[in-house]
Amino acid sequence: MSYPKPEFRPVSYSRVTLTELMIPAYANFGGKIHGGILLSLMDKAAYAAASKHAGNYCVTVSVDGVNFLQPVEVGELVSLLASVNYVGRTSLLVGIKVIAEDVRSGTVKHTNTSYFTMVAKEDNGQPTPVPGLGLETLEDTRRFVEAIKRRELKDRYRMEFDNAVSALAVPRELHLLAHERCQIMY
Ligand SMILES: CC(C)(COP(=O)(O)OP(=O)(O)OC[C@H]1O[C@@H](n2cnc3c(N)ncnc32)[C@H](O)[C@@H]1OP(=O)(O)O)[C@@H](O)C(=O)NCCC(=O)NCCS
Repeated sequence: MSYPKPEFRPVSYSRVTLTELMIPAYANFGGKIHGGILLSLMDKAAYAAASKHAGNYCVTVSVDGVNFLQPVEVGELVSLLASVNYVGRTSLLVGIKVIAEDVRSGTVKHTNTSYFTMVAKEDNGQPTPVPGLGLETLEDTRRFVEAIKRRELKDRYRMEFDNAVSALAVPRELHLLAHERCQIMY
């Protein structure tokens, strides 16, 4: 049974925190946590926040800003703080901050902040409109504006990159390889 959706839902309505203990089964051969484990947890957190805001199931369309700058260790408690930063018509941008806590020392490190674009879908698989976003704090407003800027830059980058790639003539660009660690072997 589905309920009528409000015109706006506040950011706080769908904010979620997912916490998980990093067990040995999540480790790679070097003893650190697999990046894929963290990506999977981030996807879950993004899904939870987006689908709660939308009141519909959501799918992941794109992921930005995934840079793991510090390793996560077995035994650490990882928390993913997710909130909807921006909404379009059927899409939502969810910001996810990942922190890892060493429970013995109490040390907390910020491992990364990433942005998941999700789209709400109807049962028939068609994208469906989502409620607007109620900005409750100055921080919510800052994130919303930042998301608009991020999208503008991404669109511009995508366009410029596509143009550059379609105009690419490899023989003309071979000088780019001069200081790279590669060797032409054909
Ligand atoms: C994402 C998807 C729904 C877009 O379908 P579409 O027919 O192009 O639909 P639309 O053009 O109406 O786009 C829907 C929304 O997605 C957004 N969108 C589409 N492609 C996008 C992209 N590459 N990056 C960011 N947003 C994108 C559009 O801007 C639009 O947002 P808006 O309604 O807020 O303006 C479709 O490509 C899809 O279902 N992909 C598979 C997603 C999936 O299954 N993910 C799970 C991992 S396998």
